[in-house]
Amino acid sequence: MFLPQEAIRVKRDGGEISENDIKAFVAGITSGAVTEGQIAALGMAVFFNGMTPKEGAALTLAMRDSGDVIDWQKFGFDADAPITDKHSTGGVGDKVSLMLAPIVAACGGLVPMISGRGLGHTGGTLDKFEAIPGYDPYPSIDRFAEIVKIVGCSIIGQTGDLAPADKRFYGIRDVTSTVESVPLITASILSKKLSAGLGSLVMDVKFGSGAFMDSFDKAKVLAENIVRVAGAADTPTTALLTDMNQVLGRTAGNAVEVLETIEFLTDSANADQRLLDVTLDLAAHMLAISGAQPDVATARAKSEEALNNGKAAEIFGKMAAAHGGPADIVENHGKYLSYAPVVKPVPTTASGFVSKMDAREVGMAVVALGGGRTDPAAKVDHSVGLTEICQLGDRIEKDQPLAMVYARTEAAADAAIAQVQASIKITDEAPAITPVTAEIIQG
Ligand code: URA
Repeated sequence: MFLPQEAIRVKRDGGEISENDIKAFVAGITSGAVTEGQIAALGMAVFFNGMTPKEGAALTLAMRDSGDVIDWQKFGFDADAPITDKHSTGGVGDKVSLMLAPIVAACGGLVPMISGRGLGHTGGTLDKFEAIPGYDPYPSIDRFAEIVKIVGCSIIGQTGDLAPADKRFYGIRDVTSTVESVPLITASILSKKLSAGLGSLVMDVKFGSGAFMDSFDKAKVLAENIVRVAGAADTPTTALLTDMNQVLGRTAGNAVEVLETIEFLTDSANADQRLLDVTLDLAAHMLAISGAQPDVATARAKSEEALNNGKAAEIFGKMAAAHGGPADIVENHGKYLSYAPVVKPVPTTASGFVSKMDAREVGMAVVALGGGRTDPAAKVDHSVGLTEICQLGDRIEKDQPLAMVYARTEAAADAAIAQVQASIKITDEAPAITPVTAEIIQG
């Protein structure tokens, strides 16, 4: 007979839990048969003693199988259809999914993307899409599949039917200080992603001041583990380690990030260079690993073409409309996206070069404006945020702003101004600029 306390004891003493016991433990998480105390104890034992590769793969698969796993063949897709997705570990101004899914779809990939809400200082793709009036992120699975078939991509929120064990386990980890464990993060992310029945995955593992993993080395350990476990679960995965030491792109918020996305898709010549680089890097790897394009170089060229010839913008519009949003969101976004009424510049504290940014603090300024959550059940104000955010290496003169604030009230705007000013360092010397994609780990 399976006893949860025996599995906990094995891990507490540094041993390896059998695959059957991991399955039974996860079944108990889902059914409620394993208590909150036992889940917390296992989480802490894993936090201190880690997991072997075999245990990590077993945990991921058991959590994936705790709910529905989408079978795309049931919806009429071929067994070798290039069904692929990207997952980011979270950043500030990270609106990449919004433009990436349409670009990949325009180049022959199929992207059923299950996205999340903002967490801590990071924004969430789902919150951004909800800035588009009418956009329904919770269609039925049949409608989700239909949109992927017709449009090539669909971005939805996680439903309770996919990886329910993660939902309970994550909630307990969150309040028992066991989130920061590589095997547990790996199982949590991959169980959700793999329940979407993907053929391949690309991970954007971020490091730096605006990421959950502040150091490159820690991010690399996580990236390597995710690639290894996903491979063991028969889902070829590539991880890009990308720099989050500054806001990605020029906006942070919700409606403002949708606006930057539409401008990016319709006028890529003026897009922020780092945002463009990371988006094309991720698109190229998704298209290559899924087999939609023969190799990374061809895939990158195709992605650029789809961006420049308007095909990706057209798919973005079609996806928004298929989810209940306005059919003319790309052409007439000004009619639909709302922005907060108090608009103020963030004056620079000196003239010189932007040499350092605490991206986490900038993200927290957006949260404080109402653009993110301090409590998981709270509602987000889609209209607030920051635009025209400076980037490392920008030369700023005394009369130039570091960013523009969109706030509900003067007081909220002033608080955001002070917080953004405090998070940006201006120096006489220009800083060294490093590429946004630091390393690629291929599965
Ligand atoms: N994101 C997840 O989905 N799970 C984790 O454990 C950490 C970040």
